Amino acid sequence: MPCIRFETTDRTTEYPAGESVNVLRMAIRHEVGLPWKCGSGRCGTDRILVKEGADHLDAPRRRERERLGPLLDEGYRLACQTYTSGDLVVTWDPEQKGLDEGSELHAKLKERWLAAPDST
Ligand code: FES
Repeated sequence: MPCIRFETTDRTTEYPAGESVNVLRMAIRHEVGLPWKCGSGRCGTDRILVKEGADHLDAPRRRERERLGPLLDEGYRLACQTYTSGDLVVTWDPEQKGLDEGSELHAKLKERWLAAPDST
C-alpha cells in the first residue's frame, strides 16, 4: 500500500494501491497537522516541500504555478492542488499558520473536503 509521510509532524497515512489521492484531503482526514486555509490554491498556507516521491505527483495546476512560481522548481507544491499515486515524503515550515481549528469556517471547509473521495 502506498503511503504519504508527513515528516514535520511525524505522521504517515496509507491509501489503496492504484489510486491517486489529494494530499490535503489525506492530511485533513488523518489529522496530520498540515496547516491550510482556502483549499483552493489561493492562500499558499498548505505549501509543502516534497522530499521524496516527486515522480508520483500530478503536474502542477494553473493556480499552483501562479502561487508558487519559481518555488515549484525547488520542490514546493500546494497540498490542496496536488495528487499522488505513489509513496511520498513531505515537510513544511512549522511556522506556517492555517485556519483557526475552532472556527466555524474551518469546520465548514473541513466537512466539505471530507465529503469528497480521497482519489480522483
Ligand atoms: S489551502 Fe490555500 S492554497 Fe492550498
